[in-house]
Amino acid sequence: MRIKIGIKGFDDVIHGGLVKNRIYVLSGPPGSGKTTFGVQFLAYGASTGMPGLYVSLTRGAGTTLENMSGYNMNIPVLTGRDVLFFRDVKSVPDYADSDTSISPSIVYAEILDFVNRHSIKRLVIDSMSTLRFSINDQTSKDMEIGRFIQNLSLLDCTTILISEMVDPSTYSTEQYACDGLVFLHNFMRGRSMTRAIQIIKMCGTAHDCEMRKLEFTADGLRISGKIV
Ligand SMILES: Nc1ncnc2c1ncn2[C@@H]1O[C@H](COP(=O)(O)OP(=O)(O)OP(=O)(O)O)[C@@H](O)[C@H]1O
Ligand SMILES: [Mg+2]
Repeated sequence: MRIKIGIKGFDDVIHGGLVKNRIYVLSGPPGSGKTTFGVQFLAYGASTGMPGLYVSLTRGAGTTLENMSGYNMNIPVLTGRDVLFFRDVKSVPDYADSDTSISPSIVYAEILDFVNRHSIKRLVIDSMSTLRFSINDQTSKDMEIGRFIQNLSLLDCTTILISEMVDPSTYSTEQYACDGLVFLHNFMRGRSMTRAIQIIKMCGTAHDCEMRKLEFTADGLRISGKIV
């Protein structure tokens, strides 16, 4: 079964939406629209009967809620009705913390508890790059990320994992382990900045890998034609 993301112009490109209960990764450079994409996906779901949870691993959930409330996504109403949640989950210890026992499994346990208590159906985790900071043992980083994703796949949720794109020529564990991978791009064309979106892989869907124009509007992101 497919579910609509709710971003104008994008659901059509992937033949009606995302395959439900799979894990997707959204990667892009700073300011490319990753958080906006994730919150728009949640707000659309929440307004169509699928409760959503935005998890900030940088303790920035309040800031995100404030930033995104300016868009016509009905966010204050949805959060007020308890169908859309913005939550911080600690992934990095404070200087004052004597207890530094934070790990992906502890982060997962907190998410699992919240998902069960509020019947969450759409989940966004921002970001995987931050989750890596919770792994002390350098040698087990990839394995820990793999286990985290494997456990997320047991949830009755459609999940978007946000990951910062550091080096587009090397892929991370979550980019391999996920069911779908979408890149956002910022680049100069002549003298102006162009934003684009590109599907790298998408389970169960025939798709091209063309870059499409991505615009910020009062309603959030909108995707238009191919960039030629
Ligand atoms: N109405 C608006 N409100 C907020 N941001 C807007 C608006 N219109 C356009 N923008 C653009 O959205 C960008 C931020 O988008 P977003 O936070 O989704 O990006 P991001 O990829 O998550 O960034 P980061 O890597 O810093 O987390 C801003 O840099 C700004 O250029
Ligand atoms: Mg962001």
